[in-house]
Order: sequence, then structure tokens, then C-alpha cells
Amino acid sequence: MNVTISSSTLPKTGALVLISVEGTKLLPTAQAVDEAMDGGLSKAIKAAEFKGKVGQVLDIAAPQGISVNRLFVVGLGAAKSLKPAGLETAAGRMVGRLNGARIKQGSIAGDAIEGSEIADGDVAAHLALGAQLASYRFDGYRTKQKPDQKPSLTKVGVMTRAQARAKKAWADLSAVGQGVYLARDLVNEPPNVLYPESFAKKCKALTSKGLKVEVLGEKQMEKLGMGSLLGVGQGSVRESQLVVMRWDGGTAKSKPVAFVGKGVTFDTGGISLKPGAGMEDMKGDMGGAAAVTGTMLALAARKAKVNAVGVIGLVENMPDAGAQRPGDIVTSMSGQTIEIQNTDAEGRLVLADALWYTQDRFKPRFMIDLATLTGAILVALGEEHAGLFSDNDKLADQILDAGKASGETLWRLPMGPAYDKLIKSKFADMRNIGGRFAGSITAAQFLGHYTNGVPWAHLDIAGTAWQSGSKPTSPSWGTGWGVRLLDRLVSDNFEK
Ligand code: BES
Ligand code: MN
Ligand code: ZN
Repeated sequence: MNVTISSSTLPKTGALVLISVEGTKLLPTAQAVDEAMDGGLSKAIKAAEFKGKVGQVLDIAAPQGISVNRLFVVGLGAAKSLKPAGLETAAGRMVGRLNGARIKQGSIAGDAIEGSEIADGDVAAHLALGAQLASYRFDGYRTKQKPDQKPSLTKVGVMTRAQARAKKAWADLSAVGQGVYLARDLVNEPPNVLYPESFAKKCKALTSKGLKVEVLGEKQMEKLGMGSLLGVGQGSVRESQLVVMRWDGGTAKSKPVAFVGKGVTFDTGGISLKPGAGMEDMKGDMGGAAAVTGTMLALAARKAKVNAVGVIGLVENMPDAGAQRPGDIVTSMSGQTIEIQNTDAEGRLVLADALWYTQDRFKPRFMIDLATLTGAILVALGEEHAGLFSDNDKLADQILDAGKASGETLWRLPMGPAYDKLIKSKFADMRNIGGRFAGSITAAQFLGHYTNGVPWAHLDIAGTAWQSGSKPTSPSWGTGWGVRLLDRLVSDNFEK
């Protein structure tokens, strides 16, 4: 679907979508429409008791006095509490409605919203992003889709009086959209197609977007002493990979920000085999790596003024005859030894070496890792918030704020040395599980031993990387969660 920013001239064809804010008068485009309709819009709003609440939609077929054949009004709630994510959701919801009505062309009026923190022009850009995200499809593996099962909507224009600002903002946000699309594709791809080497190849292709991309194979990782990561992949015929992506958009001397991703392209659990039911979901166990890759693409595509590195550990956790066993002790790149007590707690083993490598090589200003790390975070937070763990309050608050603005929300959980006793080993420096209690926290606590004091945050995205249902701006199974969050974190705090 093609999304563009256009002038505020009323469209002649297709459907027109107006936005409406709760508790205020009609916005300018709605006023113009109401006049053209001889008061018909106000009348309909009154009759339908349309108040402009979040999610409320008014639908008028064949409106009198204007030439479009369908008119919608979508509610945004109160102006002062409106966030960019609210605009995106509203536009996404309308893309769903327009497709449902088999409409081919839509125009959304991106009026300035008085009393909102979002500037004129940015309103239109966020509506455009919402429309773009809502039109994502992953149907490349369907060979029998009939035309009427495909989306009808091919063009959306977002109208604004602040075209220059809107176009500039949309250039950046559409880059973010590209990153989200890539992350979703990576999560949705089946595990016979997407495995460590094929994932790494897709990363390599991002060189054309301006990223510097290096791929380390098993030999190189052995040399670096990455026994923790390599142990996870040793039961698979697929070679493990470590991918390093760099975007140098900042000044030469400034320390990079670093993102680290868990990329288990399939998690069977290994010798501690998972139950069969639902195991197919474990193709998404590389959601952290997907988010990091999507973010790096977004930063490059919008030429962000920041130095950033993305490091992803790619492995397949399989149970063949060479697989690691419960009881094995591995030595990580940091030198610390780990007793493997459950081969299904593999993500932290991958991240231990990826984090150590990242701080050792890049001396970043901070590291944020993203990982579909524990089932326990789903039990605690469901699919609505990701778990946030950090040893740095300032970084944690910046992440929480970026979460609210982007709509990718998090909830901070505690950590601290008191939890270390749960991951003590009789034989090694630590073990890779903590027992029944505080499963997400002991996983985070484990990771904290591999950061070497660099400010760090861990995002447990096991509940948000894919979803059971669908959302207005996230129609597929893979959500691409994390790209909007990290991009926002960077643009709000680290680009001056
Ligand atoms: N990839 C899983 C975590 C997961 C579970 C993600 C459900 C998404 C949905 C991870 O590797 C895992 O298996 N974790 C174990 C840890 C346990 C053995 C300590 C878990 O959560 O059960
Ligand atoms: Mn596992
Ligand atoms: Zn896993």
C-alpha cells in the first residue's frame, strides 16, 4: 500500500476519514465538510452520539454535498492525553475498516490538534505511519489466495496544512516503518527458511542501506572463547553466527549506543526438550535479534545522527547427538564458567557472550538487550507490556518514556544481588536456571554478570514479539516489537 502526504484539498473519490478530539468543536477539515454537507455532519454526529472517544468510529455512506462516496470520523480521545501511538492506532483502525468495506483509496485528514503535545504536521506523519503499519501482510507462502481475500486499499493520502513539516517527519517515520516491516518478516519466516546463516545473509544485504555488517562464524567465535553461545548451537547442523551491524551517523568521537539481540532461530529446548504443543511458536525466538536488525535499518534509512551498533547472536537450539547436556560446564568469553542445568534456558547463554563481546569491543555508552527470554514474563505481564530490567535508573526512565510515546510499553521489574543466590552452582561460577521462583528476574540477574559495569537494560519481550490476536497497527503474528521503541529512544535522547 502506498502512503503519501498530501495537501488539505478535499478528495474527489474514495473514502474520507476525519479525526475528532473528545470535548472540542470540529477540527478544520471536519468544519469544511460539515459546511459542504449543509450541517449534515454535525447532525450525524449528534444522532449517533459520537463523542470522539478513543476507538469510536462514525460511518456515513454516500454523504450528501461532498463527492467522496464514504465518510468516516474516528475518535482520538482528549487532546491533552494524545500520544503519537494514539494517532497511529486510529489510522490503523481505519485502514482495517476501509479494507473491510472493500474501499480502494482513502484520504485521512491530518488536522492540527490544539491542546496536544504533537505538532501540526507530525499529526499527519503519525497517521501515515499507522496506516503503513496496518497494511503489513505476510502472505508470501499462500498460493491460493483469491483477489477478494487480499486487501482492497492500495492508496492512502494523509492531508495536512503543514505539508513541509509533515513530509519531513514522514520521511523519518517511514524509515521506522521499514524497520518494523523487516522485523515482522524475520519473526514470521518459518524456521526451515530462516536459520542462523540465512538470517546473517539478510543482515549482510543491509550493507546497501549504509550499514557496516560483519558476520562471525563458529571458528571465529571459538577463537574469542564464546563457549557459552557455541554450546547452545552445538546440537544443530546449522552453523551459529554472530552478526555485528554498525551505523555511524554521529560524530567520530562519540561512543556508540549498543543493541544486543537473542536470535534463537528455533528453540526446541535442546536435550531438555520442550513439549510438542505450540512448539511452532519457537520460530519466533529470534524476536530480539529481529528488533535489533529492524532498528539498525530504521536508523540507517533515516540517517540518524548517532553512532549505533547492533549485535545479534544467531543459533538453533536442537537436540542431536552432539547437543550439550544438563550438567555440562561451559566457559564464556568473560572467563566465567556456567553449569548448564537446563538446555532450554539457552537465551541467556547466547546473550552472555554477545553482551560481553559488545562491551569489550565497542565500549558503548550503554547496552540494551532484547530477548524472548522467559515464559515467566508472559505469566507476569501478558502481551501488553514487555519486562524491563536495568542497573541504571536514568536509562530505565528514558526507555519507559519512549515506550509511552511509541506505544510499545514496558513495566520495570526489580533485580539485585539478593537474587544471585538463586543462580549459584555447586560446580561452576553460576548455573543457567534459578529454580521455580522469579524466573524472569533470575534470567536478568544472570545477564547482569556479563555487562562488565556498562549501563545496561534488558527487555524481556517473550510476551510482545508475537501475538495471539491482531491489533490495528499490527495485523500479523510477528509484531516487530521494539523497533519503534528503540528508534524513539534514540531520537528523543541521543541525537544531539
Ligand atoms: N524461548 C523461551 C522463552 C519463551 C517461552 C518465549 C514462551 C516465548 C514464549 C526460553 O528459551 C525458555 O525456554 N525459557 C525457559 C527458561 C526455564 C527453563 C528456566 C522458560 O521460560 O520456561
Ligand atoms: Mn528455551
Ligand atoms: Zn528460547
